[in-house]
Amino acid sequence: MSSTTLRGRDFITWLDFSRDEIEAMLDTAHDLKRKFIRREPHKVLDGQTLHMMFYNSSLRTRNSFEAGMTQMGGHAHFLQPGAVYTPALKGDEVAYSTERISDVARVLAEMGDAIAIRIYGKPTGWEYGKGDRIVREFAKWSKIPVINMEDDIYHPCQALADVMTMQEKLSNNLQGKKFVMSWAYSGSVAKPLAVPQSAIISAAMMGMDVTLAHPKGLDLDPRILQATKDLAKKNGGAFQISHDMDDSFKDAVVVYPKAWTVQATDGRAWDEAAAKEIFEANKDWICTQDKMELTNDAIYMHCLPADRDMEVTDEVIDGPSSVIIEEAANRLHAQKGMMALIMG
Ligand code: CP
Repeated sequence: MSSTTLRGRDFITWLDFSRDEIEAMLDTAHDLKRKFIRREPHKVLDGQTLHMMFYNSSLRTRNSFEAGMTQMGGHAHFLQPGAVYTPALKGDEVAYSTERISDVARVLAEMGDAIAIRIYGKPTGWEYGKGDRIVREFAKWSKIPVINMEDDIYHPCQALADVMTMQEKLSNNLQGKKFVMSWAYSGSVAKPLAVPQSAIISAAMMGMDVTLAHPKGLDLDPRILQATKDLAKKNGGAFQISHDMDDSFKDAVVVYPKAWTVQATDGRAWDEAAAKEIFEANKDWICTQDKMELTNDAIYMHCLPADRDMEVTDEVIDGPSSVIIEEAANRLHAQKGMMALIMG
């Protein structure tokens, strides 16, 4: 186990942590994974409770947190708005079944050891930033750590698993390796920005040579782009934006093609029709075997669920370059590493 203590810290975005602190989480994750494989007991959170509040659906996040808490000797509670009173911000429409986040957070903090929240998209009315504000409102009122299980800006747990997977597949030292986060077509435009934004932040923090590829009009949050640029500079990496999928794939050792929506990040409402128009004009942004052959024998990554025959062909996602199952499995180990340090 790492000697770094992050006890009591919230885990909302990688931007709140130094590279050394993130590497301590990853080292702990690798260590706990070895113990898991050898079936060695590692009850480092014995008797602890994680409260998980899901405003959105989940397969990987819910099950990896639940399994991880059990394996570390604790327990995770699955809480769903509507089944418990729906936690709401001050100023939101108040219904009989609504409860102020200030009260929910303070009550749960008296009964457990961390609170984890997932909220983006429809439950926020697609108001960019509102999901992140809700997570931070929990953090403001909670005296125990708050974990972001994906909001509308960040998915920091996915980023931990992604980097852990790249370390296993490529090298523990990812410095200078070419990482491509590419937009890809989907028949659904209801796709938040959190995964690509966290992916470029994390790859830049690891000193990788980061390319963000997307058709014009699908820009990410300018504040995230600036943070990525700053991290690349600080960590000896690089960051560039391309509007050509084929060209971006050249020399890549990692490709991560995934849909995200067209979203104003300056407070203007989500324009679903405009998103549909751009998506339908870019159906050729699909990850095919021909495109994979442009790379430097790259691994194919995706956070899942993937939109097959739209974002990617079966040949690629089920082929030898694909690391999607290891990547999903590492959600378990990466989150255990993070929880062991902030809760342990
Ligand atoms: N990648 C991911 O967060 O998966 P779930 O939506 O299934 O949790």
